[in-house]
Amino acid sequence: MIRAKKKRHRWALLTAYDAPTAEILEKAGVDFILVGDSVGMVVLGYPSTICVSMDEMIHHAKAVRRGAKRSLIIGDMPLQGIQHGSRQALESAKRFIREAGCDAVKLEWGPKALRMTKLFIRHKIPVMGHVGLTPQTARKKNGFKVQGQDAKSAIEILKAAKAFEDQGVFSVLLECVPREVARWITRELRIPVIGIGAGPDCDGQVLVFHDLVGIFKKFRPRFVKRYAELDSVMMCAVTNYVREVKTRKFPAKKHSFSMSAKELTGFRNEAKQL
Ligand code: KIV
Repeated sequence: MIRAKKKRHRWALLTAYDAPTAEILEKAGVDFILVGDSVGMVVLGYPSTICVSMDEMIHHAKAVRRGAKRSLIIGDMPLQGIQHGSRQALESAKRFIREAGCDAVKLEWGPKALRMTKLFIRHKIPVMGHVGLTPQTARKKNGFKVQGQDAKSAIEILKAAKAFEDQGVFSVLLECVPREVARWITRELRIPVIGIGAGPDCDGQVLVFHDLVGIFKKFRPRFVKRYAELDSVMMCAVTNYVREVKTRKFPAKKHSFSMSAKELTGFRNEAKQL
């Protein structure tokens, strides 16, 4: 049981949106794979996560499951999958489990989040609650900045995390809050608190894969640590490919197939008659 492992386990989570990446994450020992709605920005080229449709999330979640057969996979409820209320949200959550083979869903804090959580759990769908900076509603509230920097708003985040816990979520994701607030919430909750931009004292960490490997470079939040600069590796590979195609260096003999001399003669003779 996940809750029982709190205090003796450090959870390492990452996002994935496709099969080969999911396979790497599984082999590398990631505890949970999150099919985040960040897919909209880092893969699909949308300006915001709110543009992502439920069908797009399912498409990516299915690919992740194909690549990571044994991993615990969390499907991120996109705004478009919940905006018409609890009934729609339940159908969306069920799609993650039934169609895409996810094990759980993640739900951002919002006016109807508790009601939805209760409903999902009643239908045996495990839920991870997301508090602090919640990108789906950030634009409407006070924007994309560190949350809980004053006592009043920090208390609101603590209350939201506790309310999620009281509804029975298995974990809370805490985004972009001061480390002191994160430490307090982590100690206060009996379930694992997974941080992103929430300092070192959470029970675990999550990052967006494309940030970690340096593919997504439009902006870089302070909490991102780049473990690789894959964009330059990819740029180098593609530039070399273009040059080699244009200079006829690629494909070489070893990349080509050939026919036996006998079949070739037969082919030429027949081809001439056409
Ligand atoms: O969609 C996402 O990638 C997230 C991050 C906070 C990990 O929710």
